[in-house]
Amino acid sequence: MIQSNNETESPLAAGATSPEDLIVEQSLRPQTLADYIGQQAVKNNLHIVIQAAKQRNEVLEHLLFYGPPGLGKTTLAFIIAKEMGSNIKVTSGPAIERAGDLASLLTNLNEGDVLFIDEIHRLNKAVEEVLYPAMEDHVLDIVLGKGPGARSIRMELPKFTLIGATTRIGLISGPLRDRFGGTYRLEYYPEADLQKIIARNGRILETLIDDSAAAELSRRSRFTPRIANRLLKRVRDFAQVHGHDTIVLNIAKQALSLLEIDSMGLDKNDRRILETLITKFSGGPVGLNTLAAATGEEEDTITDIHEPFLIRLGFLAKTPKGRVATETAYKHLGLTSPAANAQKTLL
Ligand code: ADE
Repeated sequence: MIQSNNETESPLAAGATSPEDLIVEQSLRPQTLADYIGQQAVKNNLHIVIQAAKQRNEVLEHLLFYGPPGLGKTTLAFIIAKEMGSNIKVTSGPAIERAGDLASLLTNLNEGDVLFIDEIHRLNKAVEEVLYPAMEDHVLDIVLGKGPGARSIRMELPKFTLIGATTRIGLISGPLRDRFGGTYRLEYYPEADLQKIIARNGRILETLIDDSAAAELSRRSRFTPRIANRLLKRVRDFAQVHGHDTIVLNIAKQALSLLEIDSMGLDKNDRRILETLITKFSGGPVGLNTLAAATGEEEDTITDIHEPFLIRLGFLAKTPKGRVATETAYKHLGLTSPAANAQKTLL
């Protein structure tokens, strides 16, 4: 079972995953690399490693995906398993509490299976230690007893592929990173790719959406397919309730305004973070823990969900002294920055 550490009050932020969203997400998930839109560099590399392993009749090497939430790390793990003709078992770093939990997962794998560990940066040290020999030599070292009389026995494991996913590559220890044969960074999606994804998923959901509405949704999707799909669903609901059988631009705009998603895709929480930074801390610099306390957000939610997006938009910058709001952020929120004020006084 996948667990998310990013439960947030905002229903549309990429990390929050309601059971209903999970079902929709799964129904929209592309099943093959050919169906997967975007991330071309990652796809090209995966195509080669998958074909090479298949031609040699070998088990695929361990792979690590990283990048902001909602960009398709889990989807790629499912695709890889399918393309390899393997079964996939899904778990997450925080769900594996003890070494014994990992041991039971590993001993239940069959040759060639994929073990997908989401949020792999949240594995604890004791579990990581068990993982190293399992990844490297396909063995499980089990310690029997405690103290001076303790001894360890070694158990052979079937050859398997570990696929790890993380939003925080910097938190992965060196030894764990070194044991992956390939590490791939997923990038935010350009609008053109998101528009294709929205058009594809509109067809799957049997929802008519015109090009200008799809373009508007893609502009406000935080460069993230998971958000694009959520917006598509919410806008589809809105159109249906208002008796429209096609989502046109005006309907999309009304629905997005009801959802409080602004013209650049910022949600209430993004705006609150920026506004807090500007009004309470004169635009920064401010440390992460102070910003988290002042906004009532978890630090992880800020670093994993809001910050990468706001940085990408050029609204937030990270400096050695802390986070600062940029001139563009002031403009977007309709506020006057100290720099602009000083300029005015001079004129
Ligand atoms: N649905 C969500 N992400 C997708 C992607 N990258 N390609 C196609 N459909 C998707």
